[in-house]
Amino acid sequence: MNNGITEIKLQNLTVKYGDATLLENLCGGFKRGQVNLIVGRAGSGKSTLLRTLAGFHKEFSGTVMAEERSFNPSGNISLVFQNPEALFFNGTVGEEVGYALKMRGLPVEEIEQTSVKWLQQWGLTPERCWNRHPLELSGGEKRRLALAACTVFLPPVVLLDEPLAGLDMRGQRSLAAMLAAMAADHIVIVVTHEPELLLAHSSSLLYLHSGSGQWFTPDAFLREALNNNSFFPLPDWYARALSPYRDTAVLPQIDAISVHRFVSECR
Ligand SMILES: Nc1ncnc2c1ncn2[C@@H]1O[C@H](COP(=O)(O)OP(=O)(O)OP(=O)(O)O)[C@@H](O)[C@H]1O
Ligand SMILES: [Mg+2]
Repeated sequence: MNNGITEIKLQNLTVKYGDATLLENLCGGFKRGQVNLIVGRAGSGKSTLLRTLAGFHKEFSGTVMAEERSFNPSGNISLVFQNPEALFFNGTVGEEVGYALKMRGLPVEEIEQTSVKWLQQWGLTPERCWNRHPLELSGGEKRRLALAACTVFLPPVVLLDEPLAGLDMRGQRSLAAMLAAMAADHIVIVVTHEPELLLAHSSSLLYLHSGSGQWFTPDAFLREALNNNSFFPLPDWYARALSPYRDTAVLPQIDAISVHRFVSECR
């Protein structure tokens, strides 16, 4: 368990690069419980917003609050960059996953026990991979190791930039389920160009466009995307699977990954 932050609130958050305003007056919140998504075109400011929340980008005004206090990202956040496995720098899986605990000065036995448990949590078998070089793992295993290493110290807030990109369908499916499980006791915020893979696990979606941000429920986002092609390009196969339900009161929670597999198998 983490230290119990349940919501991060943005109050008039304006983000700049020098004189250029990238995002203006963002208001709203990211909650614990289900995955929070951030979407928007390339260059709309998604990664910059994550870096701002993590305290790395300092050119902003407004406030970020947690439990009615100003949020201090230090020690409370893990920011997982795109392709995090490119940053592996330890010689074994065991050392890689335990590194953040070692940096915090924990005793060796505690590091090992926690690392073993955490590897299992992320679907990696310690007996099989503890002494292997991280680069010997499969693509999906590398990504899971990277996420395990970034979250082993249980930060209450986890920010992920494109965590599913570049994985095969199976890898995306298992990782999506793991992120959803992690959201039960962390605030999980995911930037993605493929929201359909996580919408079934999501509570809210922040859509960044032309410097402003609009919040949607998954249902409202899908409806807008189905009705307006220029709003957000859903993949064809997904839009087709949803379109029979367009006029129903609530869209079904279609698991995009199962649909994709079904469609691929039918080809
Ligand atoms: N250090 C910087 N100085 C000035 N402008 C920057 C800097 N870093 C990014 N930008 C600009 O800010 C805008 C937003 O960049 P950002 O990386 O946040 O977009 P993004 O939504 O994550 O895009 P993508 O989907 O391609 O990853 C872009 O126009 C980018 O060129
Ligand atoms: Mg980006």
